[in-house]
This record gives sequence, C-alpha cells and structure tokens, in this order.
Amino acid sequence: LTSLPLPGFIINRLRAAWRLPAVQALSLQVLAALALWLLLLLWGYVKPSAPASIGIAVLMQGAIAALLARWRKLAVWWWIIQFVFPLSLFLAVTLQLPPVVYLIAFLTLFVLYWHTFRTQVPYYPSTLAVWDAVAQLLPADRAVRVVDIGSGLGGFVLNLASRRPDSEIIGVELAPLPWLVSWLRAHMSKSRGRFIRADYAALDFSQYDAVFAYLSPAAMSALWDKAQAEMRPGSLLLSNEFVIEHHAADLVIQTEQMRTPLYAWYI
Ligand SMILES: C[S@@+](CC[C@H](N)C(=O)[O-])C[C@H]1O[C@@H](n2cnc3c(N)ncnc32)[C@H](O)[C@@H]1O
Repeated sequence: LTSLPLPGFIINRLRAAWRLPAVQALSLQVLAALALWLLLLLWGYVKPSAPASIGIAVLMQGAIAALLARWRKLAVWWWIIQFVFPLSLFLAVTLQLPPVVYLIAFLTLFVLYWHTFRTQVPYYPSTLAVWDAVAQLLPADRAVRVVDIGSGLGGFVLNLASRRPDSEIIGVELAPLPWLVSWLRAHMSKSRGRFIRADYAALDFSQYDAVFAYLSPAAMSALWDKAQAEMRPGSLLLSNEFVIEHHAADLVIQTEQMRTPLYAWYI
C-alpha cells in the first residue's frame, strides 16, 4: 500500500478498515470466490463431462473462505461464519423469500448491533450474580455515581438503581434499539436509573466513582488507557469476564453462581 501514490490519510483509513475482522472476512470471501472460479475452470478442462454441482461449489466456497480465515488468524467463530455464509446465501436464494423480509431483518439487526463491526462489542447480558458482586464492592456509607459503559437492555443499571436509591446509576449505550428498550424499561418501572445514547469513548470517566464494563477482548486495552487518563484516584474500574492484558486485576471475584469472573482495578 505504501508504494502506491496515495495520500497518507487514505492509506491510514484503509489500514484501519483492514484491521476490522468483518472487512477481512468479506475480502477473504471474495478471494475464496476467485480461487473457486479457477478450480472450477481447471475441473472443466480435466472432466468436461462431469461439471461440479452448485451444492459442491457452495461447500467449497465456504471451506476455502474458512481456511483463509484460519490462515489470517481470525478468531475461531469467524472460521464458522465464513463456512456458513455461502450456504446461507444459497439457501436464501433457493427459498425465494420476498425482498421485504430481508429489509426487515437488515433493519432490525442494524438498530440492534449498530456499530458492532467497528466496536467489536455485540450485545449479550451479564447476570444477576455479577450484579450482586458489583453491589457488594461499592461503598455502602455514601452515595456513588456508577456508569455501565455499553448498558445493553439496561438490566445492570435498573437492578443497581433499585438497590441503591441514594446513588446515581447511569447506562450509556451506542446502539439505538437496546438504548430505547432500556429507556422504556426505566420509564415504565419508574426507576431512578438513567440511560444515555452515546459512545462511551466520549464520556468523561472522572465523573464516576465506578465504571462497569461488559465489553469484549478487543475493547479492553483502549478502555485501560482511558481509565488511566481520566478516572479519579480511588475510583473503581470493573470488567465482567474480560481481563486487561498486562494489567493484573486488584480483585477477581468468582462465586458458584457466576458463569464468568468479575475483575476489579482500584485506580
Ligand atoms: C456485552 S453487552 C453488555 C450489556 C450490559 N452492560 C450488561 O452487562 O448486561 C455490550 C453492549 O455495549 C454496547 N457498546 C459497544 N460499544 C459501545 C460504545 N463504544 N459505546 C456505548 N455502548 C457500546 C453494545 O451495543 C452492547 O449493547
């Protein structure tokens, strides 16, 4: 890329895009289609009387794309997605569903996942056992401000707000649909929990006594840098399930009821 006469900012944009697993996966599907086309051409010369069936071609496309994903060291779930993707396309074409079905499915996924291809943090909820553990870590003798960065459908915030009526519990969510659901839940249950639709990257962490995160491994290193730069001494950074590489947690809480550990760092 650097040998092409392109302005630096375009190269940087392309590099940033290439780092996204979804972009790599799509590019690898295109590469797999080219490889498959060459293989089918070759097969046509070798066995002109027995052309490969469409089913075999679809399976081969998936297998080549999955192998390429493995070669590019994408996470294991991408190997599976790469294999299943051409099969799903084939099925979708065979089923001949009306186009509006795809439009509705696309719009629903879009408002649910929004920028997940960039953030690499999809929605999955934490559990009551984790909320119990967080509640026990918070100081009980004074009001606190707690933020759930990426609050999903709002379970954590609503639960903590009902336990701590003295405190301010806030959820920040980027995706419109989960944010709307959490906002409606708060209004309907008359909860004191508040929900803001925003990117937590734009939040000032110094405003909070505790920051709770249930994100993904891809987000943790940047989260650590932000917490170090902004959080006040004595405040608490909490991460459900995901560690921060090279920064051992001050506390690791894992009870029998918890599916995943809760990590805590005192800033
Ligand atoms: C794994 S879910 C956790 C939901 C909730 N905190 C819980 O514990 O049940 C992560 C959520 O973070 C949201 N998210 C991802 N990146 C975000 C960002 N930069 N700013 C705000 N929310 C974000 C996702 O849309 C998703 O709903």
